[in-house]
Amino acid sequence: MNWIILILFLFLGTSAYAGLRAAPWFPTWSRDLDRFFKLADIKPGQKFYDLGCGDGKIVFAAAKTGAQAVGFEISLLPYLIAKTRSFFVKNAEIEFRDFWNADISNADIVYLFLTPKVNPKAKLRLEKELKKGARVIAYTWPIEDWPIAKEDLRPGQPPMYLYIIQ
Ligand SMILES: C[S@@+](CC[C@H](N)C(=O)[O-])C[C@H]1O[C@@H](n2cnc3c(N)ncnc32)[C@H](O)[C@@H]1O
Repeated sequence: MNWIILILFLFLGTSAYAGLRAAPWFPTWSRDLDRFFKLADIKPGQKFYDLGCGDGKIVFAAAKTGAQAVGFEISLLPYLIAKTRSFFVKNAEIEFRDFWNADISNADIVYLFLTPKVNPKAKLRLEKELKKGARVIAYTWPIEDWPIAKEDLRPGQPPMYLYIIQ
């Protein structure tokens, strides 16, 4: 019984912490994967990061196209799901790590599904760290003040934006 309470506490506690650090777990819709592929334009061998990867859906999708795909997650339940799934997907790596402290300077493509509140902080970080030409995809919430390279707007579906680091 004590174990169950402890596990529940860990799941709920880390989930609340993730919500405070950046965003709660809310997965990208599977039907939006095609839109992601179009904007990401992934080439085999490219380095891909999902900042807050949830159950790893986007990481595995990127890995299956040949990218070296990495997802960071600090909420225990989605992390365990993603980590378990990663054993069956080549080129996919899931790390239990706060993405604010992770080195992403070698990224070719970064995926963000966070919140309007933390996107400005993420923007500063990405401007400082990413190389020229790196592609950033933001789902649902745009990155304010960055020129949009491409956007995918569809009625009834969350918008998706592509930015290219200048
Ligand atoms: C809106 S969900 C997006 C999940 C996934 N990227 C997707 O599109 O399906 C945001 C995720 O970020 C995780 N998260 C929030 N803050 C984080 C942090 N500082 N480091 C790592 N993961 C974080 C949350 O636990 C949550 O799973």
